[in-house]
Amino acid sequence: MSAVGGPIRDADEASLRDAVALLRAGGVVAFPTETVYGLGADAASESGVARIYRIKGRPVGHPLIVHVDGLESARWWAEFDADATCLARRFWPGPLTLILRRRPGVPAWACGHEPTIGLRCPSHPVATRLLAAFRRAGGHGIAAPSANRFGRISPTRALHVLEDLGAEAPLILDGGDAEVGVESTIVDLSRGRGVLLRPGAITAAEIADALGAPIEDRGEASMAPEAFEVADGRRAEPDAPPRTSGSMAAHYAPVRPLELVSPGELADRLAVLRDQGVRVVLWSRRRPAGHVGEWERAPGNARDYARVLYDALRRFDRLDVERIVLEAPPDGADGSLWAAVNDRLKRAAFGSGAASPPG
Ligand code: TXA
Ligand code: MG
Repeated sequence: MSAVGGPIRDADEASLRDAVALLRAGGVVAFPTETVYGLGADAASESGVARIYRIKGRPVGHPLIVHVDGLESARWWAEFDADATCLARRFWPGPLTLILRRRPGVPAWACGHEPTIGLRCPSHPVATRLLAAFRRAGGHGIAAPSANRFGRISPTRALHVLEDLGAEAPLILDGGDAEVGVESTIVDLSRGRGVLLRPGAITAAEIADALGAPIEDRGEASMAPEAFEVADGRRAEPDAPPRTSGSMAAHYAPVRPLELVSPGELADRLAVLRDQGVRVVLWSRRRPAGHVGEWERAPGNARDYARVLYDALRRFDRLDVERIVLEAPPDGADGSLWAAVNDRLKRAAFGSGAASPPG
């Protein structure tokens, strides 16, 4: 056991063996990926996948991503045409999920019986070792959504998983802080052309460049029910099945209202909030003159910002403040990683109830 104790364990050989045994028996294991931590179950196990939905409180039928240890394993689940093969060869292992047409007859629990399936080969060394060990034990893939309760912020540390899932995750493999910090880029190739469903660290421009063709960006129009998972349980809750957990209220403790304010409007907005007596925590690149409340320096580059974003939001949510104010970072219109950051920030702000719906 690692120093933290409980279900969090160092990812040594013994822990990996236990993890594989748990998965093979239809249990769940939380594990690190380079994007966020996942809550995994054997994708071919009906009861294992059902357990994920129950623990997460996720609406049944909302499809999960199946994680594999490489292209060969992925081919068991789906046909890879030239485009899919090209993207897998170029970006796997890494933060890219491909939506492809599922092979008829393969288990469909994880993809909610959709004719398509989401496949991803993560690059985190612990995920790589776990997936390889699972395959050697006869497994075909590990279904894993982010290891947070539905409606909460994705976990980027083992401790975040413990905070969200408690004893319901019997084993949490510790792989340190997730390096990317935001969920994988999702590209749908099931319709004969590339469609970006979720921006991530692998950018639309990189995908288009690899395919030699532009890809359609569904952008904010693609806000699926899960759209509001990032920050808030209340909006997600109406879709969720009845929960059995007695600790639901605590786990769905509302994330504090979050506001995104452009740098030019920041000083005025802070003055208004101060006059109203609203206690704020501010995340900005510089501390504005005259700001008296809580303040933390926000990273100025997208990689660092994405990496620390979810941990920062979790931390701010625990402060004795009434409002989280974020200085809006660059909008990502250039298609850089800022696009993924903005996508998550807008969802978080909307989910928190402090802003109007994303257009
Ligand atoms: O980085 C990630 O992708 C993380 C780590 C753990 O791998 N996983 C993750 O999973 O973010 P989750 O379940 O929180 O998000 C999966 C997203 C959902 O928005 C879901 O709708 C979409 O993938 N998805 C999965 N299968 C799909 C399918 N067949 N068609 C369309 N969307 C799909
Ligand atoms: Mg998620």
